[in-house]
Amino acid sequence: MSDEAPALLAVKALTVHHGQLCALDAVSFSVGGGETFAIIGANGAGKSTLLRAIAGLHPPTAGRVVFDGEDITGLPTTERLARGLALVPEGRRLFPSLTVEENLRVGAHRARKGPFDLQRVYELFPWMVERRRQRAARLSGGEQQAVAIGRALVANPRILLLDELSLGLAPVVVQRIYGLLPELLSSGVTILLVEQDVSQAMRAAGRVLCLLEGRTTLEGRADELDRPSIEAAYFGLHAATPDHGGAPA
Ligand SMILES: Nc1ncnc2c1ncn2[C@@H]1O[C@H](COP(=O)(O)OP(=O)(O)OP(=O)(O)O)[C@@H](O)[C@H]1O
Ligand SMILES: [Mg+2]
Repeated sequence: MSDEAPALLAVKALTVHHGQLCALDAVSFSVGGGETFAIIGANGAGKSTLLRAIAGLHPPTAGRVVFDGEDITGLPTTERLARGLALVPEGRRLFPSLTVEENLRVGAHRARKGPFDLQRVYELFPWMVERRRQRAARLSGGEQQAVAIGRALVANPRILLLDELSLGLAPVVVQRIYGLLPELLSSGVTILLVEQDVSQAMRAAGRVLCLLEGRTTLEGRADELDRPSIEAAYFGLHAATPDHGGAPA
């Protein structure tokens, strides 16, 4: 995003606590319309807390969330969804006893107008048509992830918040899921994704922000960040050393 372009989403000094624990400490960044922005960081860095706070599922202790120029910090999740923020949560969180189609219809409840409906989701994922009456619990992890994405899409989001799409999926399935993102972008959806898999995040995103224990340790363009800086930011090393052993995934 250029400095002049108005941000679609601006997170301003956002601080979130879980009880006594400060899970997110004054994190700020902006995402421009049409951008793919990735949050990376190790287990417990605060990535899900950040996405959940943006989606309105966890109230911040301080800071603001501004969407399309409007302060939405105090709005409930349903109001954020109505304005065009949709979350694909970590671990998919489908209703296991509902069918594929019933899960998709949950997302269409009070949907915005836009290009996505059940039909369009079935075009994106043709295998779903035959399996639309099957219970979500019977799907594989990758299939469940696709339904979770479809459920978010039928709300016609302006920005899609994706929490660890690759979690627990085989690499070939991850590639298939990530292969979908360019099509979503060309439909006008902006993407804010969270990934533990740094290589995947760098491939998918234009800009990247690294969290470590709730604080920003690095932010920049994916094509300009070098591996040692990313590793230092990810692991919290003061200086990148060639022999620290083990690179982030
Ligand atoms: N509901 C909660 N209650 C208490 N502590 C929580 C809760 N959710 C998260 N935490 C803590 O907040 C910190 C950040 O957790 P969060 O889930 O945001 O990290 P994450 O970066 O998404 O990690 P992961 O990669 O494992 O998904 C961790 O220390 C975690 O234990
Ligand atoms: Mg998480």
